[in-house]
Amino acid sequence: MQIAFFNTKSYDQTFFNESIYLKSHKITYFEVALNSQTARLAEGAEAVCVFVNDTVDRNTIQNLSVLGVKIIALRCAGFNNVDLKAAREYHIEVVRVPAYSPESVAEHAVALILTLNRKTHRAFNRVREGNFSIEHLTGFNLFNKTVGVVGTGLIGASFCKIMLGFGCKVLAYDIQKNENLINHGVQYTSLDELFRHSEIISLHCPLLPQTTHIIDTESINKMKSGVMIINTSRGGLIDTKAAIEGLKKGKIGYLGIDVYEQEANLFFKDHGETVIQDDVIARLISFPNVLLTGHLGFFTQEALEEIAHITLENLSDFENNKALSNRVALPE
Ligand code: NAI
Repeated sequence: MQIAFFNTKSYDQTFFNESIYLKSHKITYFEVALNSQTARLAEGAEAVCVFVNDTVDRNTIQNLSVLGVKIIALRCAGFNNVDLKAAREYHIEVVRVPAYSPESVAEHAVALILTLNRKTHRAFNRVREGNFSIEHLTGFNLFNKTVGVVGTGLIGASFCKIMLGFGCKVLAYDIQKNENLINHGVQYTSLDELFRHSEIISLHCPLLPQTTHIIDTESINKMKSGVMIINTSRGGLIDTKAAIEGLKKGKIGYLGIDVYEQEANLFFKDHGETVIQDDVIARLISFPNVLLTGHLGFFTQEALEEIAHITLENLSDFENNKALSNRVALPE
């Protein structure tokens, strides 16, 4: 199958070209993101392969349909950037990689927690300058702390188990309870209770209309003073301006984010030589107790191998008229 691959980075090419699942597929790699204008590059392709920040809106889908594209293969788990209603109308299938390595993201969330807490990033810089002072680097023990986990799917479940290993009390909120986690000692509670009792809150639910700005001024007000908030899921879960207010008041003690509401134009690119126009992210970066990484939760060797494998298998299934086990259900 001819595949037009958008938003290509060198690591994508490495892992897709080396995959034993490449088989008869032919991939044309484009560095640009997919949007309504760049869609024309997919001419001659039956499939497009996209990532989290490609714009797969109605106009893009319409343009892809005109070119004869039959399937959109997301090489990621989230699909909030795809207009599913439009895909259905234009009879274009959408497949994704629902799980490739939940541990990669869960472990990154833990990395954010440990770095923010024990300030290893600041200690590293100090030591490089010959400064061995430990003033202002006080952390806290994770043991016996209460961690609130919003969304206990694959990533959330992996995260819960790690935090239980630290000796934390783990509270969880999800629209579906995971019995296995309950057996491990996780306690499900209401979102309100989770906000009220947690010292650390980690978000692992998808971005949906119901979860958009799940962290806003109202929910922040319910939280413990000095709470640590971690988001490795999707930027839109947090009302960033409300988080900034919470940080300024000291209500939020630490913020660790791998995703950002307006990340599409910023992330996965080097802006080191330009002036960043986004004042909100510029303010966020200025806080000593905010740690921001550029959507790299998924970025491990194991995850990249698995992403290439599953994406190519999804496309082989489509080509061979097999049932699409990773099909994103299109709205009726
Ligand atoms: P999953 O589908 O296994 O789990 C999502 C969980 O959220 C499910 O248990 C579901 O019941 C729950 N949920 C749905 N609606 C909810 C609501 N209104 N309130 C609370 N919980 C709700 O997904 P998985 O694999 O665990 O991924 C979670 C999210 O992580 C993805 O949606 C994606 O946005 C993000 N992600 C981030 C990556 C990164 O590199 N930073 C990489 C991969 C995923």
